[in-house]
Amino acid sequence: MSGFVRVCAVSEVAEESALAVELDDQDVAIVNSGGTFYAIADRCSHAAIALSEGDVYDAQIECYLHGSTFDLRTGKPLSLPATDPVPVYPCQVVDGDVLVDVSQPLDPEQPETEQAQAKIKETAAIKETQES
Ligand code: FES
Repeated sequence: MSGFVRVCAVSEVAEESALAVELDDQDVAIVNSGGTFYAIADRCSHAAIALSEGDVYDAQIECYLHGSTFDLRTGKPLSLPATDPVPVYPCQVVDGDVLVDVSQPLDPEQPETEQAQAKIKETAAIKETQES
């Protein structure tokens, strides 16, 4: 499946917390940090622990087992022992719902906002083409 899919309502994810969901057979953590929503693979790159169980703050999520933190915008680890990034996905809020596209993980080397904006424009263009 490709394209944005509704995963939950905004109201289901309290601020500075995460919700574990399954999308296209992938475990994904939907994270609300400061009112901004992010989608990150729900699997620490260090030892396959669910990141959704960890603490959320300042656009970061902390693995509860050994304490590595990951940037929710890029998936990059910000502290040891994890050294590999975790996939992050385009995420948007529309009419109180959280939509995620797991078919195209974001590039950890580019800011999440630029990629997400490009993806949203691409989706809108495809919809316009289909409707006309
Ligand atoms: S399992 Fe996540 S930091 Fe070790």
